[in-house]
Parts: sequence; C-alpha cells; structure tokens
Amino acid sequence: ESGEFLAAFQKRIDAEEKIEPNDPMPEGYRKTLVRQIGQHAHSEIVGMLPEGNWITRAPTLRRKAALLAKVQDEGGHGLYLYAAAETLGVTREQMTEELLSGKAKYSSIFNYPTPTWADIGTIGWLVDGAAIMNQIALCRCSYGPYARAMIRICKEESFHQRQGYEIVMTLAKGSPEQKELAQDSLNRWWWPSLMMFGPSDRDSVHSEQSMAWKIKRFSNDELRDKFINATVPQAEYLGLKVPDPDLKWNEEKGGYDHGEIDWDEFWRVVKGHGKMNRDRIAARKKAWDDGAWVREAALAHAEKRRNRQDA
Ligand code: 3HC
Repeated sequence: ESGEFLAAFQKRIDAEEKIEPNDPMPEGYRKTLVRQIGQHAHSEIVGMLPEGNWITRAPTLRRKAALLAKVQDEGGHGLYLYAAAETLGVTREQMTEELLSGKAKYSSIFNYPTPTWADIGTIGWLVDGAAIMNQIALCRCSYGPYARAMIRICKEESFHQRQGYEIVMTLAKGSPEQKELAQDSLNRWWWPSLMMFGPSDRDSVHSEQSMAWKIKRFSNDELRDKFINATVPQAEYLGLKVPDPDLKWNEEKGGYDHGEIDWDEFWRVVKGHGKMNRDRIAARKKAWDDGAWVREAALAHAEKRRNRQDA
C-alpha cells in the first residue's frame, strides 16, 4: 500500500470517522480486526460452557432463569461478532475451523473450572465486569460494525454483571459456609480476571498499532487498573478479601498498586495448557459435529427451494 493511501486512511481515523465494510482499508487493519473480532466471538461462545454447566444445578428457579438468559445472551453476542467479522471477508466456517484446530485464541478466562455455585456469581461480577470495561471502550472502535455490535452487547453485559454481583452478595451476607464459598471463589477468579485484559503494555504486540487505528482506546494496563479500582471497593463492601497481599491504595496516583501477575500461568493457559482447554475445545467440536445434520438439511432445503423457483 502506498504512503499516501495509508496517510489518507490515518486522516480518516484521526478525524474519528467510522470505517465501513466497503471502505478502502489497509490489509493490516482488516487482518487485525478479523483476528480480534473472531477471537472475541469465540470467547463468547466458549464462555457459555462454564456457566451452562450450572443451569440444571441453579439453587432456585429465579437463579436458573437469570443464568439461562445470560448464557443465551452470550450465544447472541457470539453471533453478532461472527457477523461483524464476516463483513471483513472471513467466513463462519473458516473461523470455526481455526477455533477447533486450536489456531484461533479465545479468552483465557474460560479455561478455568466452575466447581461451585459461587463461581457463577463471581463470573458475572468479575468476568463480565472486566468484559464491560473492555467493551465500553470498544463501542468507540473505528470499525463501524464492531462498534455497533458492542453497543448492544454492553447493555446486556450490565445485566450479567448485576445478576452475578447479587449472587455473590447473597452468599457473602449468608451463613459462614456461604461466605466461605464466595471468598474461595474470589480467590480462584481474581487473578485470571486480571489476565483477561491481556499482557502488560510492554509485552503487548498489537497495542501500539491498534491504538493508532483507534481499535483500542485504552492500553491493557490502563483498563486493568480501571477494573481493579472499581472492583476492590465492591469486594470490601461484601466483606471479601481480594487475594493480593500487595494491593494498596496509592493516594498520589488515585488508584491501587497491585502485585505482579503470574505471566507464566497466563501464557500457559493462552497456549492451551490450562485446566479446561481440552474440555472446552472438545465440547465445541462435539457441538459442531452434532450440528452437521442441521447444516446439511438447511443447505438441501435451500437447494430444493432454489430448484423449485428456477423450474
Ligand atoms: N486470552 C487469550 N489470548 C489473549 C488474552 C487472553 N486473556 N489477552 C491477550 N491475548 C493474546 C492476543 O490475542 C494476542 O495474540 P494473537 O496475536 O494471537 O491474537 C497476544 O495475546 C498479545 O496480546 P495483545 O495485547 O498484543 O493483543 P490485543 O491488542 O488483541 O489485546 C485484548 C488483547 C485486550 C483481549 C483485545 O484482543 C480485545 O480487546 N479483544 C476484544 C475483547 C475480548 O476478546 N474479550 C474476551 C472476553 S469476552 C467476554 O468476556 C464475554 C463476556 O460476555 C463474559
């Protein structure tokens, strides 16, 4: 691509114009969006699995109904995002193939097990809370279809976060055993939730270019800090202890200092060696294989209809 083409494109970005599917765009811009939107969509679909596990085990009908609605929402978020990625010329089949073959990533957070009901609350509170931090910024992404998908998704995420926090609040204000369930869950999900924001800025390979193209509006560490600053008071209100001995309020910066993240764990999980990576991909593969007959029947039906119309 010529220098003037890239300069003209950057001028549109700097003028806060939205880039639409049929606009001329640098190949790198298209590629990084296919990468990020595809992985975001995979995260939504895989994210249905840890929670789906508890739909039949929810403690009350009200909790079951809220969890059912949330898991269905996540499936819808996946569809919006796959559709946004398709506007960039990639097909659903290609993206699915990349997920099932392990080539495409999805958020590391979904590779952790959900052994207790408290985890369903903590996921809504922390995981959807972290997702909201990230997704509010993406509502202002320079790529039109992605930004517009985010606006709808963020409205539903707020419900996800509130229902999760209410579950944790109920446990934290319940019996000592219930409070212990909530604390144990926070202990297991706090650090993996911080890892959702990605590697530290110095190790982030895409941030600089993504920020120049206004795909990313805040750096990984900026969003992570915003999340910590908003979430620690919520834990304190519930009488729960954030499992970071180095967490300390820093008056000067008006935010919390926190302990070092275990980046070995982060990369191990990202590279497929977390507790649940194999189970998640196996579940997705089974769903894809079990659904083959539906796809074939729909294609056969469409073919017959086309033949009838042509006849
Ligand atoms: N899990 C898996 N991979 C991760 C990751 C994580 N938590 N964080 C970063 N990575 C990967 C990146 O994808 C990149 O690898 P790649 O080149 O193969 O794609 C590499 O680590 C380097 O990270 P960078 O910071 O350079 O990459 P990005 O600029 O893409 O930033 C990101 C990472 C902040 C996650 C960004 O991709 C993003 O904002 N994605 C959209 C939001 C998203 O995907 N959220 C996931 C959760 S969705 C969710 O929680 C649903 C809710 O309903 C619960």
